[in-house]
Amino acid sequence: MVRARARIPVTGAPTEEVPPPFAHNAEYEFARILDFYGIDWQYEPRTFPLRYDRGHVTEAFSPDFYLPDLSLYVELTTLKPNLTAEKNRKMRLLKELYPGVNIIMLKKRDYLRLLAKYGYGPLSPGQVPDIDRVLITASKLQQRIGQLGAQISRDYAGKEPVLVGVLRGVLCFMADLMRHISVPSTIDLMAISSYEGNGSAAVRILKDLDENIKGQDVLLVEDIVDTGMTLNHIIDYLNTKRPASIKVCTLLDKRARRIVNVPLDYVAFEVPDEFVVGYGLDFQQRFRNLPFIAVLKHELLP
Ligand code: IMP
Repeated sequence: MVRARARIPVTGAPTEEVPPPFAHNAEYEFARILDFYGIDWQYEPRTFPLRYDRGHVTEAFSPDFYLPDLSLYVELTTLKPNLTAEKNRKMRLLKELYPGVNIIMLKKRDYLRLLAKYGYGPLSPGQVPDIDRVLITASKLQQRIGQLGAQISRDYAGKEPVLVGVLRGVLCFMADLMRHISVPSTIDLMAISSYEGNGSAAVRILKDLDENIKGQDVLLVEDIVDTGMTLNHIIDYLNTKRPASIKVCTLLDKRARRIVNVPLDYVAFEVPDEFVVGYGLDFQQRFRNLPFIAVLKHELLP
């Protein structure tokens, strides 16, 4: 039995030798796709006896994969039609003998559709070629955000913080984080212009806070701190409103690129110096809907 976790880039069919334990390229490629989506898999973990003769198994079937999260066996068919007929017969027999077992036969082109269908994200096959690899899976995001929420709740015990989010990248993070904060709290949102090299001279406030934060304990919630310049500007601005305190909570910290050294009180994940998308973060407004954080292919960047 072999288990694996998300780590290998999956773009295009693998060209290298098929590594053990796989028998075919298609299996290896499927495992890489599962890794890409952060779905646990086991390779040929079980053999189902199909026919017996005087107590001996005379025919058996070992499906290629078992996906424990989905309680699903998967058999790949990249075979010629005459061999597929034989496989179909075995599959029918297996379903008759083991009615409780969930098994499907998959053609290569069905892989991505299947994964989307089982709730691993609204990723359309069209988006896949733009993604290099998944950096943080949906379940890791949720687990870590739960921890942060608990820590923030402890730190703010007896207080009533106002969570200030900066649109639009913070949308998913803020929505999840606030549900893990157990002290009474309020939220507010602002939006600012970012540098686009089009001659605009400075950060502009596109949407200001709705509430007065004077004397309040502000928790500024950010999607990613890169150079630190945006955050630095926002903190300066919020300070003019004379809150009682300001702390910063960021989902991602791209520390390697820091220019302005702003103190971060809560960091969910440190990320390498790569352009990341998903879970609210965009590239040219796309990819915000991915349920995980992924690295964009380098070729796409200007
Ligand atoms: P900073 O001012 O350089 O720290 O940039 C912060 C802002 O840049 C974030 O709020 C994001 O909107 C954007 N940003 C920086 N790095 C990335 C990235 O890797 N992916 C998506 N947006 C990013």
